[in-house]
Amino acid sequence: MRRDVWVFLFLSVLLFLISSHSIIIAVVVTSNTSSPYSSQRPSPASECDALLQFSQSFTISRDASADYCDYPTNTSYPKTASWKNGTNCCSWDGVTCHMSKDYVIGLDLSCSRLRGALHSNSTLFSLRNLQRLNLAGNNFTGSPISSRFGILTGLAHLNLSGSSFSGIILLEMIIHHHSNLISLDLSVSLIPFYLSDSQYLTIEEDRSFRRFISNLTQLRELALDGVDMSRISPSSLTNLSSTLTSLTLDVCLLQGTFPINIFRLPNLRILSLSDNSNLTGALPQTNWSSSPLVLLSLSFTKFHGPIPDSVGNLTSLEYLHLKGSEFTGSVPPTLGNLDRLSSLALGGLNLSGTVDFDMFARLKNLEDLYLSGNLNVMLPNNGNCSFPRLKELILQGVNLTEFPYFLSSSEELELLDLVGNKISGPIPEWFGRVWSNTLAYLDLSSNNFTGEIPSSICQLSSLRDLELLDNRLGTIPRCFGKLSNLSYLSISSNNFTGEIPSSICQLSSLRDLDLSDNRLNGTIPRCFGKLSNLSVLSISSNNFTGEIPSSICQLSSLRSLYLSDNRLKGTIPRCLGNLSNLLFVSLF
Ligand SMILES: *[C@@H]1O[C@H](CO)[C@@H](O)[C@H](O)[C@H]1NC(C)=O
Ligand SMILES: *[C@@H]1O[C@H](CO)[C@@H](O)[C@H](O)[C@H]1NC(C)=O
Ligand SMILES: *[C@@H]1O[C@H](CO)[C@@H](O)[C@H](O)[C@H]1NC(C)=O
Ligand SMILES: *[C@@H]1O[C@H](CO)[C@@H](O)[C@H](O)[C@H]1NC(C)=O
Ligand SMILES: *[C@@H]1O[C@H](CO)[C@@H](O)[C@H](O)[C@H]1NC(C)=O
Ligand SMILES: *[C@@H]1O[C@H](CO)[C@@H](O)[C@H](O)[C@H]1NC(C)=O
Ligand SMILES: *[C@@H]1O[C@H](CO)[C@@H](O)[C@H](O)[C@H]1NC(C)=O
Ligand SMILES: *[C@@H]1O[C@H](CO)[C@@H](O)[C@H](O)[C@H]1NC(C)=O
Ligand SMILES: *[C@@H]1O[C@H](CO)[C@@H](O)[C@H](O)[C@H]1NC(C)=O
Ligand SMILES: *[C@@H]1O[C@H](CO)[C@@H](O)[C@H](O)[C@H]1NC(C)=O
Ligand SMILES: *[C@@H]1O[C@H](CO)[C@@H](O)[C@H](O)[C@H]1NC(C)=O
Ligand SMILES: *[C@@H]1O[C@H](CO)[C@@H](O)[C@H](O)[C@H]1NC(C)=O
Repeated sequence: MRRDVWVFLFLSVLLFLISSHSIIIAVVVTSNTSSPYSSQRPSPASECDALLQFSQSFTISRDASADYCDYPTNTSYPKTASWKNGTNCCSWDGVTCHMSKDYVIGLDLSCSRLRGALHSNSTLFSLRNLQRLNLAGNNFTGSPISSRFGILTGLAHLNLSGSSFSGIILLEMIIHHHSNLISLDLSVSLIPFYLSDSQYLTIEEDRSFRRFISNLTQLRELALDGVDMSRISPSSLTNLSSTLTSLTLDVCLLQGTFPINIFRLPNLRILSLSDNSNLTGALPQTNWSSSPLVLLSLSFTKFHGPIPDSVGNLTSLEYLHLKGSEFTGSVPPTLGNLDRLSSLALGGLNLSGTVDFDMFARLKNLEDLYLSGNLNVMLPNNGNCSFPRLKELILQGVNLTEFPYFLSSSEELELLDLVGNKISGPIPEWFGRVWSNTLAYLDLSSNNFTGEIPSSICQLSSLRDLELLDNRLGTIPRCFGKLSNLSYLSISSNNFTGEIPSSICQLSSLRDLDLSDNRLNGTIPRCFGKLSNLSVLSISSNNFTGEIPSSICQLSSLRSLYLSDNRLKGTIPRCLGNLSNLLFVSLF
């Protein structure tokens, strides 16, 4: 699969995680509002003044909010902009006071476009009665997480995720006496590929982390995604409280063996450990039936061993992501009992045996399914097998010999990848009708498709990526020009003959066009010059004649140009030298 698809899949998981956090955080009701923590009675005026000074230590900037605040929907706005000196802060946006109105117990400035350093002398730390603090999704420009958080001894909920903190965290210091902590989220909600060392948060020292974990007897949610935990032994998680409902440690550089007892924690609903490529472990083979798990993600880890049949007892499960891990054995048919399942990713690992599609017949909530590898997938012979909510289907190299016709009832399909099977015959004609507004990604490469590409494919108005390489297809439909969102088109290594229809030049979004290794003839269309976004053009190994048109020089974004193995003649246009992005050219 292409790298951007992996990135896409990864982002989907990340977005899901971010949204699931916020759901969970919203679900936790306001905790005990009496104030057992403060010895001297605080005055509302001093609390309000501290808040105002705190807000004045930042600038408000539209682009200071983390990306997830505004994607997919805009949620960021400057909450502190409406705060006014002289008014009672208990009515300020984001501020919650104790019912006596004497002191502040909650501050939620998530996604408030704050930018600036959060120093240890901040007046924030004089709000001694805070029970909930949420500063997620701002930009504290690489400030360290101050150990002064430790004096906010009443904190039950602390969320500093996605706020550009950095440096080494001694959790034991920050959460010093906080054995009443209920939720802690320090996730670095950034795309990990772009993290630089200086942006990393690192948890220091295993022994203190171990003490920290053992002391949190009421902990329900712990999220440290993107935090460097390479100095922490996963065994220090063994003593996590049985109150835990959510543990997410994606992309944490964890190494070693994950403690198996965590899977059996009686309240655990979310467990996500993906993208820890040195983390090993196994799933419980026995006594794993009453778990309320909703999400289990072990993708891109070294978890290994069989997937136990008892996974079918996890009746709350909605997301099961094991892709790119090292599980072996067969796909347990008991998965078919999980009728809440919406996302099942078992691709990119070494499973074997037969998967009879009929076993999924009950999974009416299925939205995405990914299988690949040595599996032998038997398509349903039962007409009741329909998946009305299916959005993404990836069945790579699983020995399919015919097209999955049951898909005609999945009207919301956005991504279909059937690469590397043995499907023969024509591409079904009903594609364009059923998925005219939904299908964005279609990859049928490395099969045995023959005949013409049906012209109904031109009705796929959302199509961005069309890959049909390595089949035996002929004739490019003249209507192709209607696919106005198409940015990637590859039909190489097929049996296409005749001339390139000039309608291809209407594909103004096209970035990558690969027609190589066919039997196309005629001249290179002059109108190619209109494809102004084109970055890669490959028409090598065909039967093109004539000269290279100088209109090619209008393709100012062009990076790679492959024209070799044709019957072109004449001179190389001098103007090619003006294409400043051009890195690779093969002409003859
Ligand atoms: C609130 O806190 C007080 C003092 O710690 C405790 O006695 C009481 O049971 C708590 N109430 C609730 C609803 O948790
Ligand atoms: C708020 O107003 C009072 C009285 O005018 C003033 O003393 C105080 O410094 C102001 N606080 C801030 C943070 O501006
Ligand atoms: C707070 O500390 C920072 C860095 O140590 C310093 O630059 C700043 O002046 C201090 N602010 C106040 C109000 O003392
Ligand atoms: C945060 O702000 C700093 C300073 O303005 C900037 O260099 C950095 O790129 C910002 N970080 C993010 C994630 O936007
Ligand atoms: C838990 O925290 C309390 C209060 O700081 C401390 O007295 C106790 O020693 C801690 N327990 C452990 C196991 O660290
Ligand atoms: C995994 O472990 C190897 C060998 O110890 C190390 O070189 C590599 O950086 C580690 N990778 C990650 C992502 O932790
Ligand atoms: C759990 O699954 C196993 C294997 O599928 C089954 O034999 C057992 O009865 C199930 N237990 C419960 C409590 O559902
Ligand atoms: C693929 O299917 C064919 C016929 O259906 C079967 O003979 C073959 O063993 C299958 N291959 C694998 C890897 O299961
Ligand atoms: C491709 O399909 C043809 C019939 O259309 C069949 O004869 C041939 O064996 C198929 N090739 C493969 C690799 O499945
Ligand atoms: C390629 O197309 C020609 C007709 O243009 C047809 O005769 C031939 O059988 C096709 N070859 C394959 C391998 O499908
Ligand atoms: C292109 O090939 C087709 C047969 O595939 C032939 O009929 C046509 O004359 C050729 N055109 C050119 C310009 O060579
Ligand atoms: C290329 O075109 C020439 C002349 O039309 C023809 O003789 C030759 O067979 C064609 N080559 C291929 C690979 O189609």
